[in-house]
Amino acid sequence: MSTTLVAGATGYLGRYIVAELHRRGHSVRAVVRHRARAEGEGPWGSPGLRGMVSEWVVGEVTDASFTRDLAAGTERIVSALGTTRQGSDPWEVDNQANRALLSSALAHGARSFTYVNVLGGDHCPAELTRAKSAFAQMLSTSTITSQIINPTAYFSDMMEIMNMAKRGLVPVLSPTTRVNPIHGSDLASFIVDHLDTDESGSWDVGGPEIFTWRELAHLALQCAGRRPRTMKVPSVLLTPTIRITGLYSPRLADIIRFMVWNMTHDCVAPTTGTHRLADFYAKNRPTAAS
Ligand SMILES: NC(=O)c1ccc[n+]([C@@H]2O[C@H](COP(=O)([O-])OP(=O)(O)OC[C@H]3O[C@@H](n4cnc5c(N)ncnc54)[C@H](OP(=O)(O)O)[C@@H]3O)[C@@H](O)[C@H]2O)c1
Repeated sequence: MSTTLVAGATGYLGRYIVAELHRRGHSVRAVVRHRARAEGEGPWGSPGLRGMVSEWVVGEVTDASFTRDLAAGTERIVSALGTTRQGSDPWEVDNQANRALLSSALAHGARSFTYVNVLGGDHCPAELTRAKSAFAQMLSTSTITSQIINPTAYFSDMMEIMNMAKRGLVPVLSPTTRVNPIHGSDLASFIVDHLDTDESGSWDVGGPEIFTWRELAHLALQCAGRRPRTMKVPSVLLTPTIRITGLYSPRLADIIRFMVWNMTHDCVAPTTGTHRLADFYAKNRPTAAS
């Protein structure tokens, strides 16, 4: 049985990828920072990995001595590694740590490298997407079979809207801009389907339902048991907000730049999967205490 290395295995998506590989009989080497946390259930119902992993490798992917031989004895690499809520520097994680993984894969003769990029990343002005796009570009020109997956927003990110909805008011930047968010399980199936083809390429992918941001806000408010109340944020406020935030936290300013870009540009990709956002919201409905 060939071994597939999964980096970012403790993340929302990474957990579903490990679960899908395990379900299809792959042997999984999981790269994590904390094994106990990985074994327990993840955010928003994403699976705990107890019993699904053949080899645990615990360490910091930003440490070159740790990554050098990570790919030894593996056939395929899947990286869902990236900084989101962690607040790390994307050039250190999304770019350099993935480059180190790629070097290890090349040095040890791995067959393929699958990278989870982001839809429209080449056009977004944030450092986060620049770091990711630069790595995707490097991967696409390397000698290994490269699979670059460009997803829309995940259901996990849609919980930010639910968090606002439970307080009764959702700000909307561009009410008619559209997005088709995707559940981690549907995206993991898509990724593992492609892994099995051994074909190099780049694929855009999103979930089965396309929403405008106004519809998303109304869905979250409805699922939170609130009346539909949204607020259009004046676009003239956005640039000064990013500039002022950048004075005390460049990283936070970059995250806001990324979010604003995604909420003001259509983020619609070919549809896949079966999971509906209303069901996800119903499952993760906020309690009175949350
Ligand atoms: N969320 C979205 O809507 C979305 C949309 C399109 C593309 N993507 C991309 O998809 C990938 C997975 O996203 P996700 O939402 O599943 O992210 P996530 O839940 O934050 O998972 C990210 C993974 O990367 C690891 N990681 C982050 N910073 C690290 C650091 N400094 N050192 C070591 N490990 C680190 C995390 O480890 P820990 O658990 O130990 O922190 C985790 O395993 C990312 O590359 C992201 O850019 C996300």
